Amino acid sequence: MALLLTRADVQAALTMADAIAAVEEAFRQQQQGTAQLPLRTPIRIPQHHGLVLFMPAYIGGMDALGMKVVTVYPDNPSQHGLPTILATVLLNDPRTGQLLAIMDGAYLTAMRTGAASGVATKYLARPDARVVGIFGAGIQARTQLMAMVAVRPITAARVYDPRADLADAFCREMSQALGISCVAVAEPRAAVEGCDIIITASTSKTPVFDGQWLAPGTHINGVGSHSPDARELDSLTIRRSKVVVDLRSAALAEAGDLIIPINAGEITADHIRAELGEIVAGAPGRSQADEITLFKSVGLAIQDVSTATRVYELARQKGIGQEIHL
Ligand SMILES: NC(=O)c1ccc[n+]([C@@H]2O[C@H](COP(=O)([O-])OP(=O)(O)OC[C@H]3O[C@@H](n4cnc5c(N)ncnc54)[C@H](O)[C@@H]3O)[C@@H](O)[C@H]2O)c1
Repeated sequence: MALLLTRADVQAALTMADAIAAVEEAFRQQQQGTAQLPLRTPIRIPQHHGLVLFMPAYIGGMDALGMKVVTVYPDNPSQHGLPTILATVLLNDPRTGQLLAIMDGAYLTAMRTGAASGVATKYLARPDARVVGIFGAGIQARTQLMAMVAVRPITAARVYDPRADLADAFCREMSQALGISCVAVAEPRAAVEGCDIIITASTSKTPVFDGQWLAPGTHINGVGSHSPDARELDSLTIRRSKVVVDLRSAALAEAGDLIIPINAGEITADHIRAELGEIVAGAPGRSQADEITLFKSVGLAIQDVSTATRVYELARQKGIGQEIHL
């Protein structure tokens, strides 16, 4: 018997605190060498501007096995009334291979992506960080802000999106959900200046702000771009930052934010100071109050499998979901 979990089920089972704990443990296990994490397999579908990613993982220390199939279709919101990201997760019993659960992976992806930024922010942002600047008012931005509120005493957010209506709707929803002030801003600069933490969670393929605007002590979570020819962060931002990534090999294969300045000779690959797992396992995080820190994520299957395993446990405990026979 397998458990079928809809988006509403995943939402009912999982809190951001649960997701952050699961993702932090996954990065710790990866650092300890218990995770099998093949580089994800992409299939591009150019005629529909689509990308499909097949993302399997086994985390030995958590005894968690599964795979996510995630699609990235940037035209979905405008042309089909669908989200950019759609996903499904299969969870298997590592002892037998038997299917344990099929669950919606779209909300899970947003939660685990927010959670990775939450873990990075916990180790890298100043403890007194209160104001968050956000680029992109989409799905990921919502869980990014939830994660910031979970790990820092956040009181205010400033949101820039070229679609002002989306930024307004985001602020109405999130100020109510999180009990913080949220203001939609008309210029990118207003989502950088005066902000302690900056999140880029947009579908932009070109830098969304100017690295000159960054104040010392800022922490940045770069979430959006994950193809070699696209970036949200300019070379100056990368040069000024202590850079931490989710996985070096994945970042060097997929993160245009780093690949473009490397190819231009502006930085070398050793500008990447650490992987998040190394920081979780005790490598230095922020070392000075005026340091600019940057966590660049492209997203790893260990985040999905650890979070999905937690969702499955919580759903079983709470009696959520529908039993199915295949
Ligand atoms: N790092 C990860 O693990 C991870 C996980 C999931 C998604 N992503 C990526 O995150 C990005 C956002 O995903 P989403 O699901 O929130 O998409 P979404 O379509 O819901 O939201 C993206 C928003 O970005 C806005 N935008 C476009 N250009 C902008 C600019 N220059 N400045 C500010 N905002 C701008 C769009 O108007 C849109 O509202 C995508 O690129 C996606 O592939 C990364």
